[in-house]
Amino acid sequence: MDELKTGLGAVHIDDKSSNYQDIVKELILQSQKAKEGAYCPYSKFRVGAALLTLDNTVFTGCNVENACYNLGVCAERNAIAKAVSEGYRGFKAIAISSDMTEQFISPCGGCRQFMREFGPNWDVYLTKPDGSYSKMTVEELLPVSFGPKDLSLKKVTDSSNRQ
Ligand code: THU
Repeated sequence: MDELKTGLGAVHIDDKSSNYQDIVKELILQSQKAKEGAYCPYSKFRVGAALLTLDNTVFTGCNVENACYNLGVCAERNAIAKAVSEGYRGFKAIAISSDMTEQFISPCGGCRQFMREFGPNWDVYLTKPDGSYSKMTVEELLPVSFGPKDLSLKKVTDSSNRQ
């Protein structure tokens, strides 16, 4: 598959020479490669993610843990933060990889909410190391979600919150 390094720490997939199935395969491979970078001395649970933007640029991420345990960051959130930092806000898909052989890796609740910030209708590929996957949408993973628009819906007037 034709790939181009973008200089953003990302890879661009040439969509003219590839169909969506090939792109998904590549996305899964990229998430497995990203897993190699996992910094997880505490959990020893490696996770990699590869995020596909609307223009077929791929940003990857791995989990990065910390001696102060609660500061650890998940692979998915790292990939999304990298993409958003470079100006991307629209996504087609994310692939997630771990070392579990008998179960598809399933994103944590926090990562589901982080994905949902950028819309409910895009694909999440939960994978196994052999490349097999289960495909779900963000909406399926996080039904009845809270999103950016909810903040501006009609509210009761609460004078106790007035400045
Ligand atoms: N982890 C992820 O990076 N993504 C997931 O989808 C599930 C969990 C990380 C967090 C922590 O570093 C390790 O896996 C064990 O929970």
